[in-house]
Amino acid sequence: MCDYNRGKWQMNQSQPTIDLFRALQKPEPFAKSTAPFWDDPYISEQMLKAHLDPNRDLASRKHDTIDRSVEWIVKALSLQKGDRILDLGCGPGLYCSRFADREFIVTGIDYSKRSIQYAKEYAASNKLGIEYIYKDYLTIDYNNMFDLVILIYCDFGVLSDEDRDSLLCKIHKSMKPGGYFLFDVCTPKYHDSVKEERTWRYEEGGFWRPTPHLLLTEKIKYPKQGVLLTQYFVFDNKSNFDIYRIWDHAYTKDSISKALSDARFDDIHFYGDITGREYSDNSETLSIIARKTT
Ligand SMILES: C[S@@+](CC[C@H](N)C(=O)[O-])C[C@H]1O[C@@H](n2cnc3c(N)ncnc32)[C@H](O)[C@@H]1O
Repeated sequence: MCDYNRGKWQMNQSQPTIDLFRALQKPEPFAKSTAPFWDDPYISEQMLKAHLDPNRDLASRKHDTIDRSVEWIVKALSLQKGDRILDLGCGPGLYCSRFADREFIVTGIDYSKRSIQYAKEYAASNKLGIEYIYKDYLTIDYNNMFDLVILIYCDFGVLSDEDRDSLLCKIHKSMKPGGYFLFDVCTPKYHDSVKEERTWRYEEGGFWRPTPHLLLTEKIKYPKQGVLLTQYFVFDNKSNFDIYRIWDHAYTKDSISKALSDARFDDIHFYGDITGREYSDNSETLSIIARKTT
């Protein structure tokens, strides 16, 4: 879905696609990865295992947290059977299946082919009538359809300001009047707990590649923008290197309220996490429920 520009690391390569030394400079905020991350055939297999591990907060939250989260959302928003829910970045459908079990009408969108394939198979074998769509959620185009839109596990923070503003408008348009948008973000407290660093590791095979590779990991802060970058340089044994960039924009109550109001959301409520815990100044995540009233 994206054009990528992979690198070659062999020293005698006459025309490298990307200059390694240039690639080691601090990138502009929200610079793209050089290869797909969520939709890479091998990485997405490792990701799916992480989503489906019930006991680890990795690609998804622990499954008992997800149970409590769905329970809280349904109660807090007084959702009624038959309400329509849109899950953006639904992964393998851990939230979608739980909502469908409670007789909501659910649509899940994700751009990991592997997760969507798993989600479809799970829904079919459990007789859950969920609509799953393999698609970039930045391109949604719905009108007055959903009672609730969710975007869960701090994925909102990966968006540049332009993508964020455009997505918020699309989400607002997709919602029925009176509908809710529920999502979570990291706070500056979380960024404070992260150290800028560079580390490296040699692996025979692992999360990034099935074959021997060198992994350089770097954490960089952009204090002015409130952004944190974690980037992974992966050098394989075929002279290729790729850079995977995971961006995180931290939000305060004020900064997220401003972005939401600009997109015409109001009636904004804050929580410390996605199970409805109270928000405090020490919270490393901020969960938000915003409403479409106009
Ligand atoms: C951290 S995982 C969370 C998955 C799910 N929300 C959960 O909590 O179990 C983020 C998911 O969002 C998907 N994703 C990220 N950006 C996306 C985009 N622009 N369009 C569609 N899916 C996206 C990824 O493929 C991945 O499955």
